[in-house]
Amino acid sequence: MRTDVMRLAAAAGGHPDDLTELIDDIGPGRCAEIATDEIAFRLDPPRLHPGTEIELQLVFGHRDTTTACLVTVTGSGATHATGRSATPHATIRQQLGEVIRQLLGPRGAAGPATRQVELRDSGDIASFRRPPVWFAATQRLLSTMDHRDEVTLTELASRYESDKWGIHRYTQHYPRYFEPLRDRPLTVLEIGIGGFADPAAGGCSLRMWKHYFPRATIYGVDVYDKTPHARQRIHTLRADQSDPEALLAVVARTGRPDIVIDDGSHRVEDVLTTFHTLFPHLRDGGYYAIEDLQTSYWPRFGGTSAELDAPHTSLGFLKSLVDGLNHEEILPGGRRAAPTDQQIRSLHFHHNLAVIEKGANLEGGGPDWVRFGPK
Ligand SMILES: C[S@@+](CC[C@H](N)C(=O)[O-])C[C@H]1O[C@@H](n2cnc3c(N)ncnc32)[C@H](O)[C@@H]1O
Repeated sequence: MRTDVMRLAAAAGGHPDDLTELIDDIGPGRCAEIATDEIAFRLDPPRLHPGTEIELQLVFGHRDTTTACLVTVTGSGATHATGRSATPHATIRQQLGEVIRQLLGPRGAAGPATRQVELRDSGDIASFRRPPVWFAATQRLLSTMDHRDEVTLTELASRYESDKWGIHRYTQHYPRYFEPLRDRPLTVLEIGIGGFADPAAGGCSLRMWKHYFPRATIYGVDVYDKTPHARQRIHTLRADQSDPEALLAVVARTGRPDIVIDDGSHRVEDVLTTFHTLFPHLRDGGYYAIEDLQTSYWPRFGGTSAELDAPHTSLGFLKSLVDGLNHEEILPGGRRAAPTDQQIRSLHFHHNLAVIEKGANLEGGGPDWVRFGPK
């Protein structure tokens, strides 16, 4: 089912008039909440003393209506609510459609032409020689709204405490594949939410992906209940990745993903079951990533270090895909065709990580006189 935020993200990349009509349809109050939720989530607060609370008033205009929302910034993050503060530190007025285009449209959208910013009167020009701390929070909020808070995936991994950087080094590799897709309203599906049986633990990478892909819908799948991590643009689903039926039920819910990341059990048989079940549903031009491939060498996860090409291991299987890339070159009788041969455009290997690009692989082989030599 397409949620309101998914509809807004799709429209934010199109004509402004269509977005205006969609805001009419969803309701400006609800759209203002969606925009404020997005701002509060992405905002990286400045360093504040414990107990300091900064109130930033947002007033969104749409046709002849206004909706007031309040973002409260503390040292540990930002919360939001509808309504007004009697004493905000700053008030930002802007047209709702413009805000939504900046937050949920492709980056680089036009600047904030309709914005007015009113700062609290500090009462004393001297105090501005050293700007008050609420001014720094206002700056952060404005750069978040303008989508100028360009942060790398590695910085986001640290911010949301994902081990994809630090323990692992995956976030240095992902941008070379994901950066060109970043401005699209993607469907991202990650197996393994983290935190295992504790429902409140984990969710770090889901939040990281949500921030990195500003227009995407992120689905997390885990064998345990992880509903506490659901929020705007993040959905949690419960499924065991060793069960193909359960995975198919996931795809029935999410639609075809653009990106799949397998960071689940890391058992070799589960990695292969998940790939064989989900890869056919991945969109063309999408990526399928498998993390923690070191388990392919470890008997505890069903792997082996004794037979490195064993087809039942994750790396043994992935190595066989290299021949599939060149399926048009292999001489008759050399190898049995695999279903993925014509669907994998490229394979990328990093330390413990593989990234597989889906796309037509039908370039054609060389002419027979090169292949077989002169008759
Ligand atoms: C390494 S954690 C995921 C970390 C998270 N992706 C991150 O980067 O923050 C692995 C998760 O996979 C889940 N898991 C283990 N076996 C699974 C299975 N068979 N199906 C689905 N999830 C599984 C665990 O419950 C655990 O929460």
